[in-house]
Amino acid sequence: MFETYTAPVHDAPTPSASRTHRGGWIGSDEHKRAFCRSFVDTHRPFRPEDISWPDLDDEGRRRLAALPIWNEAVRTEAETALKVQTLGAAETDPALAEAIALQGYEEGRHAEILRLLTARYGIAVDAFPPPQRPRNPRWAFVSTGYGECIDSFFAFGLFAIGRRSQYFPAALIDLFDPIMQEEARHILFVVNWVAYLRARTPWAFRPGFDGRFVWTLGGQLFEHARNALRFGGGASQEGFMMGSHSVFEELSARSFLELCLAENDRRLASYDARLPRPRLVPAAVRLALRFLPSGDNGRAATVEVSDAASRKRRSA
Ligand SMILES: [Fe+2]
Ligand SMILES: [Fe+2]
Repeated sequence: MFETYTAPVHDAPTPSASRTHRGGWIGSDEHKRAFCRSFVDTHRPFRPEDISWPDLDDEGRRRLAALPIWNEAVRTEAETALKVQTLGAAETDPALAEAIALQGYEEGRHAEILRLLTARYGIAVDAFPPPQRPRNPRWAFVSTGYGECIDSFFAFGLFAIGRRSQYFPAALIDLFDPIMQEEARHILFVVNWVAYLRARTPWAFRPGFDGRFVWTLGGQLFEHARNALRFGGGASQEGFMMGSHSVFEELSARSFLELCLAENDRRLASYDARLPRPRLVPAAVRLALRFLPSGDNGRAATVEVSDAASRKRRSA
C-alpha cells in the first residue's frame, strides 16, 4: 500500500501505562491506537516522480518563482524529514514507530516534491549544508511538530486565498491540496502524541516535562517571530509583494485570521472526533480577533477574496 514506504518492524512490547496514569482516555492505549490509526489509515500512497506537473505560462512561472518561500521550504522539509525519520527508527512502541516513520516518509516526500518542482519551473534554490541527525529525536520532533502547528495554521489560510483569487493555476493548486492536508494530519498527530507522552509521564516528572515543553514551544515562537520580522523587512520579497498586492489589498487582518480559523477547522474536521485538535494557535488568534476592529473591514474573507478574483476576471 505504501509503495516506497516500508513499515519498521519492532519486537518490543507496547509499554504499559504509567502507574500514575489517571485512567483518562488521553494517554490510554486506546488513545494511542486512535491517533496512530487515524494517521496511518489516511496516508495517500503516491510517488513524487509520478506527478505530472502542469505547464505554466510566463506569468504563472514568474508568480511561482517570486514566492518568498523556496529556500526556507526546501531546507526545512529536508531537516524535518531527517528529524522525524530518526525518531521513527528509534521509537520502540510498534504503533508509534509505524506512524512516526510514515510521517518521516511523508516529510521526505515533501522535500522530494519541492526539489522536483523547483527544477521543473527553473526556480533557483540556494545550496544548504546537509541536515544533521538530532541528538534528542523526541524533543526535536516536539519542536518541529509545534513549528508546523504555527506554520500550517497560516498556510491553510494563504492556500485558500491562492485558490479563490486564482493567483495560481488551478492545476497547480489541486496538486498541492493533498500536501496541505498531509500537514493537517501531521499537526493532529503531533499534538496527540505530546498529550499521550505527557499523560504517560509520572506525576513526579510532569513539571520537568511541562517545563521542557514550554521552553521548546517558546523557542519555536521566538524563531517564527524572528522570521516574520526578517520577511517583513526583506527587499528580496519585493517582487512577491508587488505581484500579490492586488490579491491581498482588500484582505483585512481580521478577514485573513477568520479565513485561517475556518480552513483550520475544515481541514481537521474529518478525523476521529475523539482526538484533541491543535488549540494553541487557534486560541491565540481567537483572542486577537476580540481586539481587532470589525465592521466593513471585518467582512468574511471569502467574500473579499471572491471579489478580488471576479475583478481580476472582469479586467482580463
Ligand atoms: Fe512537510
Ligand atoms: Fe509536516
